[in-house]
Amino acid sequence: MTDLINLDHNATTPIAPEVLNAMLPYLTEQFGNPSSDHVLGRQAHQAVETARAQVAALIGATPGEITFTSGGTESNNLAIRGVAASAAPGKRRIVTSGVEHPATVGPCGVLEAGGWSVTRVPVTREGVVDSETAIAALGTDVALLTLMRAQNETGAIMPVGEVAAAARQAGIIVHSDAAQAVGKIEVYVDDLGVDLLSIAGHKLYAPKGVGALYVRSGTPIEPIVFGGGQEHGLRPGTENVASIVGLGAAAALAQSRVAGESVRLRLLRDELWRNLHSRIPTLVRHTPIGSSLPNTLALSFPGVLGKDVLAAADGVLASTGSACHSGVDTPAETLLAMQVTPAVALGSVRLSLGHANTQSELAAATDILVVAYETVSGR
Ligand SMILES: Cc1ncc(COP(=O)(O)O)c(C=O)c1O
Repeated sequence: MTDLINLDHNATTPIAPEVLNAMLPYLTEQFGNPSSDHVLGRQAHQAVETARAQVAALIGATPGEITFTSGGTESNNLAIRGVAASAAPGKRRIVTSGVEHPATVGPCGVLEAGGWSVTRVPVTREGVVDSETAIAALGTDVALLTLMRAQNETGAIMPVGEVAAAARQAGIIVHSDAAQAVGKIEVYVDDLGVDLLSIAGHKLYAPKGVGALYVRSGTPIEPIVFGGGQEHGLRPGTENVASIVGLGAAAALAQSRVAGESVRLRLLRDELWRNLHSRIPTLVRHTPIGSSLPNTLALSFPGVLGKDVLAAADGVLASTGSACHSGVDTPAETLLAMQVTPAVALGSVRLSLGHANTQSELAAATDILVVAYETVSGR
């Protein structure tokens, strides 16, 4: 394990020691149900409320505006389907981008199959939605704008604030999937002007299977699962107390270090690109030079498959955007949407940095990746 160089933090992050320590009592002696009216129940309830305040503080919300969920996928489903369920009869259209995560694509597709219209705003060659194009797609028939804050594969940051301002003026509810952004860059709901915002715990050093949905006070939204009255009745079910406590601790940790870490990781990421590019000048960069997540570097190795490079890159953990269906490699949709050719897209690799990465580790990873590319390409 110790020799692995983890450059796959956009897939998931390890649980931070501070987060694990905060969680442990709630996995052992403090096992109460927050709804129970006795000492253990009250402790659990208090722990959930502390976590709610910590998550709210990270994004500039009030605690009552945070609903805990099972993660980014559920938060997106609740936002999209929950707003759709309460939309006025004349509003049956959603505006979104062409490069959203499947957790947004999925619920939009279900609504489309049920008679809704979905407008998917294309991205530029840089992988970014053009705000004027997105604003032009809005209209009086639109119930919801759902636009991700940061793209998981390329790290491109979307102009959520500009588009949200126009949408809210037109009476459109605004959701942003910030699963990749929260903890990597500063995210404040009032600066973005969003009504709903999704958070995924395991992208910010909390466990997998926990997340949150920010719901601006007064936003019309219906639950999508039904049961008891937990989480303001919006997400019933006994709370996952230990993981919620972990998410709270991770939010507090992120709040204390996001400014410094984003600068540190951007410098490391830019150095990684410079070093790789100087040794393989034909590398193609997909992460925008301009506004991007500081930790993300998506690139394509020319003339080879990204998965072959990674298979040869012993000890380096990273992802390709491509999928393999029935033995056939399919290029990443996000890259095709950016007009990247299928052949180049198949050479793609996503390197995503995190808290434990050091300069010397990245120097070692550079050597390993260059040798892997030379081996695979026969150069
Ligand atoms: C942008 C984005 N949204 C949503 C999700 C889904 O989050 P979860 O894995 O917590 O369901 C992810 C996870 O990869 C993501 O990158």
